[in-house]
Amino acid sequence: MEEVAPVVAGRTGNLAQHPDDDVILKGEIDLDVVREMLTHFTYRDHQEAQELILSALQEINEHFGWVSLPAADVVAEHFGTSASRIYGLLTFYADFRTQPRGRHFMLLCHGMACYVMGSQSLVQELEDRYGVGDGGTTADGELTVQVVNGCLGACDIAPLCKLDADFHGQLTAESLNNAIRNAIAAGGSWRDAHAHVPVNGSSHD
Ligand code: FES
Repeated sequence: MEEVAPVVAGRTGNLAQHPDDDVILKGEIDLDVVREMLTHFTYRDHQEAQELILSALQEINEHFGWVSLPAADVVAEHFGTSASRIYGLLTFYADFRTQPRGRHFMLLCHGMACYVMGSQSLVQELEDRYGVGDGGTTADGELTVQVVNGCLGACDIAPLCKLDADFHGQLTAESLNNAIRNAIAAGGSWRDAHAHVPVNGSSHD
């Protein structure tokens, strides 16, 4: 069962500017930027290196929206560990992505309260109208959806989703579509969501 990586310490130094949207959608990660990010993760011994790996992966994941396999290789090299250990972490924790995100990113809650209140019909709506399932991205690159089996922590407004920085509750198919339409029209992206989302659970895979 996948888990969500624990919240870890924030950045320890100045990072390169976020790539622009074209780069977000380009499907590759600048490994020089990854190496620059990793220079802030220094360690004295193997134990300390192991403790920093999750922080580094989270930082890369937040910066680019995902962690590519070449980026994972760079992380492995930096911390003197095997690439397979890094791949294992990336697949174990639900908040790591190994594919690029679209311009907008949705966490659709499919926990018990949301399920009871009809989240399955929302999952179906996303598949029927946008052709996108869990972990998928629409063909135009506008929207990536992640279905969360756990709880997004706002059961009183179930069923709900978090789209970029905003929560949308008591969703119906119509209000879900409105939220997506408005987010796209507003022109922002998943970068609008700076805070870590306290997701208690795993994603469907
Ligand atoms: S189960 Fe969806 S917010 Fe709690």
